[in-house]
Amino acid sequence: MRVILRIGGSVVASPINTELISKYAELLKTLKTQGHEIVVVVGGGTLAREFISIAKNLALDEQAQDELAISVSRVFAQLFIKKLGALSCSTVPLTVDEAAKCLSKGQIAVMGGLKPGMTTDSVAALIVERVGADLLVKGTDQDGVYNKDPRKHPDAVKLDRLSFDDLANVFSESKHTAGIHQIIDPEAIKLLKHKRVKIVVVNGFKPENILAAINGENVGTVIT
Ligand code: UTP
Repeated sequence: MRVILRIGGSVVASPINTELISKYAELLKTLKTQGHEIVVVVGGGTLAREFISIAKNLALDEQAQDELAISVSRVFAQLFIKKLGALSCSTVPLTVDEAAKCLSKGQIAVMGGLKPGMTTDSVAALIVERVGADLLVKGTDQDGVYNKDPRKHPDAVKLDRLSFDDLANVFSESKHTAGIHQIIDPEAIKLLKHKRVKIVVVNGFKPENILAAINGENVGTVIT
């Protein structure tokens, strides 16, 4: 299966969790052995947001803020690459074409952000489009998509399954601001909608959830 794995910076990088990164490296090895083709997109987490606020304090514009956040996400991608050794391409792809090229060499591509004005969710969506992925799995810091923000509403209910159209109703806010935190970026959903690729949102603190999602088990929230 051709899988795009989007790992939230909120999961591996907020704070930096080396044990979890090692577990992800093991998981990726397993997936590779099983014959899956994988592109990993990691976010920059709190460190990226720290750099965004440093840039703001320096009166730098949104583009500069985003560029710094992208650099941070790429450092995290590099950590994965170093840990994966020959299983992955040796450098962080800087474009969707570079990611596709890495994949065609039979290696795992691990990347961060691409360009200002988007999130790593949108990067994952662009990769889905470019390589024609079968599945997008997002490992996040929640158990899935809820009917309202579970951080603000204790009575929020997790949704097991939903359609792209349902999702549009769950999120109304869609304007990009540097460092926005949403379970899945509405802009990315817009890109993914016409691709009709299956998306599974799972709790990324348990990498075994990713395996379950790939195996078609009931985990997290399935969006089709
Ligand atoms: P994300 O919000 O996508 O990363 O990017 P994350 O830390 O993984 O987030 P969670 O864990 O899913 O919540 C962080 C910020 O980096 C900039 C944006 O400002 C974005 O909000 N960014 C990232 C870009 O400008 N371009 C990119 O291609 C990626």
